[in-house]
Amino acid sequence: MPRIRAAILSGLLLSILGVTGPAHRAAAAEITIACGALGQELELCRDGAEAWAKRTGHTLKIVSVPNSASERLALYQMMLAGGASQIDVYQIDVVWPGILANHFIDLKPYSGGAEKSHFPAIVENNTVDGRLIAMPLYTDAGVLYYRKDLLEKHGRPVPATWQEMTETARLIQRAERGGGEAGLWGYVFQGRAYEGLTVNGLEWIASSGGGTIVDAEGRITIDNPRAAEALALAASWIGDITPEGALTYTEEEARGVFQSGHAVFMRNWPYAWALAQGEDSPVRGRTGIAALPHGEGGRPVGILGGWNLAVSRYSRHPDEAADLVMALAGPEEQKRRAILAAYNPTLPALYEDAEILAANPFFRTLHATFSQSAARPSRVTGTKYNRVSHTFWTRAHEALSGRMTAAAAVAAMRHDLRRLSRRGW
Ligand code: GLC
Repeated sequence: MPRIRAAILSGLLLSILGVTGPAHRAAAAEITIACGALGQELELCRDGAEAWAKRTGHTLKIVSVPNSASERLALYQMMLAGGASQIDVYQIDVVWPGILANHFIDLKPYSGGAEKSHFPAIVENNTVDGRLIAMPLYTDAGVLYYRKDLLEKHGRPVPATWQEMTETARLIQRAERGGGEAGLWGYVFQGRAYEGLTVNGLEWIASSGGGTIVDAEGRITIDNPRAAEALALAASWIGDITPEGALTYTEEEARGVFQSGHAVFMRNWPYAWALAQGEDSPVRGRTGIAALPHGEGGRPVGILGGWNLAVSRYSRHPDEAADLVMALAGPEEQKRRAILAAYNPTLPALYEDAEILAANPFFRTLHATFSQSAARPSRVTGTKYNRVSHTFWTRAHEALSGRMTAAAAVAAMRHDLRRLSRRGW
């Protein structure tokens, strides 16, 4: 691990230890939960967890985590590898069960079968060696945000293909800049070298018929002409329709540019909807949301994301921690999160709920995007998934920065992945 990153992480660790302090010894337990950072995630987590604490008489500590999923994972791994008991509940990414399963308890004895009302694919994803290591909290799929007003003004349809998106973005950017909107860009996405770039890259590639890096049988498929073409098109965006700064963007930086009115298109997750439509948002009422474009001859692919709640094996209060997890993953809390902040429920029944659909009409119109999204190859690569993703995002970032051609990048990915899988996944 580079020294700077290690220093940042140990700083975070110290601040966590500092805020946590000595545990209560009275009947009421003190539970510490590490939850999200994207958009309104932290407030939602705090309010939901505090309502539980009030009801049960327990006390709470909330640990805020870094925005970038990859930095969160590094922080969690450091805490868990040391057997730290300071954090009881971890909010974990849908691609981490294979990596972190051994550090979490089996939640089945606590769930009373509640997992049966969630999407079966997510429950299966969270079940490792027969143990339910996390309860689903929300699900995610990549979507395209667009400026309705600008598309209308320039007489352009919502783009169906990446090529069309590129042309429309360029045309509107050029015309608007000519008209005095000097800071307008065509397209923003998550281009930093981290997990979010793996997601974006897979969306370009899988929607162009270029596969998902490693297929369901564990074969490395990334070195193919469609994958290289899709990556080459994305590299051509940088400095043209996408600012160079996007090479350091996570979700929140991209949202900042779009929401302040400085981009025609943005790739992001559903959470950005509630914020773009918020009362103080400059693009309120001017934002549309659609399935992501696809490559020529391909079909739209929004990569599946989402977060889950797990209880640490090192927790001193597993019973209370599991009770909190069940409360946060339950229908009332998922409904509140969906209405307030557009987090997609993992309970199919909530997609029929009139209040949820009124707040998020796209839950209905983009049903296909949510139900047919493709998964990252985390299941098949198991404990090695983060290294697979690291290989992908590192090379993809080199291609986007122009340090390597897209064809060389996918060849290098294959080479690195072969080494990684030499003794199997
Ligand atoms: C979102 C997704 C998560 C993904 C991450 C990447 O938080 O829900 O699955 O790994 O973005 O940045």
